[in-house]
Amino acid sequence: METVIAVSHLQKQVLAAAANNNKETLNILADINLSIVAGTSVAITGTSGSGKSTLLGLLAGLDVPSAGRLALFRQDLTKLSEDQRAALRLGKVGFVFQSFHLLEHLTALENVLLPLELGKHSGDLKQVALAALEQVGLVARAQQLVTKLSGGEQQRVALARAFVTQPKLLFADEPTGNLDRHTGQEVAALLFRLQRDHQTTLVLVTHDESLAAQCDAWYRLMEGRLQRQEQAA
Ligand SMILES: Nc1ncnc2c1ncn2[C@@H]1O[C@H](COP(=O)(O)OP(=O)(O)O)[C@@H](O)[C@H]1O
Ligand SMILES: [Mg+2]
Repeated sequence: METVIAVSHLQKQVLAAAANNNKETLNILADINLSIVAGTSVAITGTSGSGKSTLLGLLAGLDVPSAGRLALFRQDLTKLSEDQRAALRLGKVGFVFQSFHLLEHLTALENVLLPLELGKHSGDLKQVALAALEQVGLVARAQQLVTKLSGGEQQRVALARAFVTQPKLLFADEPTGNLDRHTGQEVAALLFRLQRDHQTTLVLVTHDESLAAQCDAWYRLMEGRLQRQEQAA
């Protein structure tokens, strides 16, 4: 089984503003150890401010750790430059965010086309993008400006955009956090279905423990450390 993410003794400290204009060191991540096998889904829960987004940023190579080892696709991220990390992400890593992060002046189709146009993809890109919108049930809305779509529909466009490049690894940071419960469950079901269909490795940050329980592994982030949670059989 291929290991997609391997992390040991990862730490993240930042200098944060403190009282009387002082700066103090904030220990966000103290000792993170984690190994994720290709094709599996891993949930990370934790209270607001516990460092979940910081951890995702490190795992994706968007940010650099203060200490520890971190390998993505067997490449030591701490030895790569920012450009090299971006190249490693390109086409291999997808993201879904709480607040959708769609380009508001573009249509659903144009949003899904964008990562194809930025990457080294050939063929009929429009057909590929439409097929991705089909998979999230939005082909009929392809020409709509995304601002005309509901929150749930916008997140489905974001899922189509994330999966259209067939990433090996997908990071989702509270993807249902801005949606009502029913819509959130629909979007989550779609996310899990796409993950299985594409055999994507999924790292899912969520507040929703019922979603976390559906993942292959579940960790709770507390005081800068991950604690494995028992999954219901
Ligand atoms: N660059 C930074 N400078 C100062 N504080 C930060 C920085 N990044 C994150 N933090 C703080 O670290 C903590 C963890 O943030 P975050 O990872 O966003 O938590 P979560 O996603 O679990 O809500 C928060 O208290 C946040 O304010
Ligand atoms: Mg967060």
